[in-house]
Amino acid sequence: MRTLVTYSTRTGNTRKIAEGILEIMPEGADIFPIEEVPSFEGYDFIAVGFWVDRGTADENTRKHIIRIKQKQIGLFGTLGAYPDSDHAQRSMENVKKLVHSDNQIIGEFMCQGKIDPRLTEKFATLPADHPHAMTLERKVRHEEASKHPNEEDIKNAQTVFQEIVRQIKF
Ligand SMILES: Cc1cc2nc3c(=O)[nH]c(=O)nc-3n(C[C@H](O)[C@H](O)[C@H](O)COP(=O)(O)O)c2cc1C
Repeated sequence: MRTLVTYSTRTGNTRKIAEGILEIMPEGADIFPIEEVPSFEGYDFIAVGFWVDRGTADENTRKHIIRIKQKQIGLFGTLGAYPDSDHAQRSMENVKKLVHSDNQIIGEFMCQGKIDPRLTEKFATLPADHPHAMTLERKVRHEEASKHPNEEDIKNAQTVFQEIVRQIKF
């Protein structure tokens, strides 16, 4: 069985989860940033990791995920919002829509990832009536995000992907 872990990352959060998932993949699995994958052909299973950018996958993932055809897939993502939020769920649904329908998505995982401090600073400058203004709730969430992904997130991703791997057919 050939398996691939591929990911897109800007600040390293999603790479951390990808490396954790690689540890529990069958021996000989490959790992590449998605833009460096030579070909998706020949793999039985592909774990695809993205970071959430305005409610969907980041641009790099959006560009390359459409090249994946007729594969068994596990999706994983990191985002600033809480992973059990409606926003997280909607973002994952939006990513699923990008996956070609002849693939089979076996399972998924999301966790928080620290938000680029420049983005937090930008929010802080917005007027109070702006939808992205720095409210107390947002401040608390950004502070929580700054602690992720942590060891527990990596373990949770590994648990989810162990179950996904068990379901791969080949
Ligand atoms: C331009 C930009 C847009 C973002 N949009 C969202 C968003 O819509 N929802 C969200 O929950 N987090 C959003 N985030 C936070 C990132 O998804 C989060 O920090 C992620 O873990 C970054 O992953 P990386 O370190 O692998 O690049 C955004 C971050 C940036 C820089």
